[in-house]
Amino acid sequence: MEFTASSANLLKIKADCLIVLADAQINGVLASDDTELHGDLKALAKASNFDGKTGSAKTLHTPTLPFSQVILIGITGATSRQKQIKVIADAASKAIASGAKKVLWVAARAADDGHWQAAIVARNVLHASYKYTKNDKVVASRLKTLIYWTGSRAEQQLASTGLDFGAAVGNGMNCARELGNLPANFCTPSYLADRASDMARDNASLDCQILDNADMHKLAMGSLLSVTAGTVEPAKFIIMNYRGGAKSEAPTVLIGKAVTFDSGGISLKPGGGMDEMKFDMCGGASVFGVMQALCASGLAINVIGLVPAVENMPSGTATRPGDVVTSMSGQTIEVLNTDAEGRLILCDAITYSERFKPRAVIDIATLTGACVMALGKQASGLLANDDDLADELLASGTRSGDRAWQLPLWEEYDAQLKSNFADMANIGGREAGTITAACFLARYAKKLPWAHIDIAGTAWLSGAQKGATGRPVPLLMDYLQQRANPST
Ligand code: BES
Ligand code: MN
Ligand code: ZN
Repeated sequence: MEFTASSANLLKIKADCLIVLADAQINGVLASDDTELHGDLKALAKASNFDGKTGSAKTLHTPTLPFSQVILIGITGATSRQKQIKVIADAASKAIASGAKKVLWVAARAADDGHWQAAIVARNVLHASYKYTKNDKVVASRLKTLIYWTGSRAEQQLASTGLDFGAAVGNGMNCARELGNLPANFCTPSYLADRASDMARDNASLDCQILDNADMHKLAMGSLLSVTAGTVEPAKFIIMNYRGGAKSEAPTVLIGKAVTFDSGGISLKPGGGMDEMKFDMCGGASVFGVMQALCASGLAINVIGLVPAVENMPSGTATRPGDVVTSMSGQTIEVLNTDAEGRLILCDAITYSERFKPRAVIDIATLTGACVMALGKQASGLLANDDDLADELLASGTRSGDRAWQLPLWEEYDAQLKSNFADMANIGGREAGTITAACFLARYAKKLPWAHIDIAGTAWLSGAQKGATGRPVPLLMDYLQQRANPST
């Protein structure tokens, strides 16, 4: 899909669908800049009882205008970023559902941030156009071109860079969604490793290296390897290196949990809804999405993506409850529950990340059912050992509409991990499950500025809308963009 910004005469732009975000009087970008069309639209709004409030939309067909469809989208009351994003997401769905090949999109007046609004539009239009490749029952989007209209040349320039960035984020989300939606018999650790190699081959700024079981043995990743003990699928440790910044610049490391199927292992999960544990690699998928978005946007920053990829299965060779394993850090772990496997692969990846002397390490994981109970599908859980890093990630969540909410990482919670047989247990009891999981990880991140994002509630939707969401690619890309280019 192609996105371009324009400030040319609106009536001279050819498109089959005009989308206008405005109030009842069509006061938006248009009001001051294109009086001819403005008058027509004002009359149409009046005749169709368009009230301009958020949530209201009118699809109109009129011979007086050179567009076969005109869609008015209400913006009155969209006072927060979150509400504006909702309006734009709804409008994006309508743009795709219209069946148009070429859409002319008239933005709401950008009070402060034309770059931001254009990025949100491109991202949401791509998000709305996503179709799972293996599903033939859903009709593919016909949209080829979106022309994003701004009132002035100055705004056009801002919008243009915003569209590029938003398109990179939208495509990155769709990459993460596709990997998430693929079933575990296709999307194995080996499959993920092949996709990483493909991406590195196609992008000059990206390198990739794949470690196999033997390499991980040599590195003494005993904790990670204990999770893969029960499966016949070979584990892969995927390392992606995006070089967008100066050689001397310390990288940001992203670590994504990729359990391609989480049966629970010997601590087998109950049967209901177990299919959804194919989504237990969505943290890893989000790292793939970010890497792709970095290559597309060319952000001037160095980012390493680490994706430990394993399958968690029960068998005669599987790890048992009560087994004690030694992590790469040397710390020993009593595995009281083989279903608390995410932290067992992440801890070794965190230790591995030390070699990059990173500026920050952020892990992303569908780690705890408790996080779904605490925050539902709205916010990802955020825990960190560095307040500045936490604040920056929270701000990125708000700005991108891909929100996170912080939970405390107090040492009193860490006490729940006590074991009589090892340095720590891998579970901390019934209470505060999201926090004790993060406390476990924090024991491996003592030398690093580190944050953990629990996406158990936000990575996918269930029920009729079952499918991966592509979160938190927008949050992470906003954070990296702020790092690379603080002025935008
Ligand atoms: N992948 C799950 C977490 C999960 C569960 C995410 C449901 C989304 C929905 C994780 O590996 C897990 O099984 N966690 C256990 C931990 C427990 C054994 C301490 C959980 O949350 O029940
Ligand atoms: Mn589990
Ligand atoms: Zn899991």
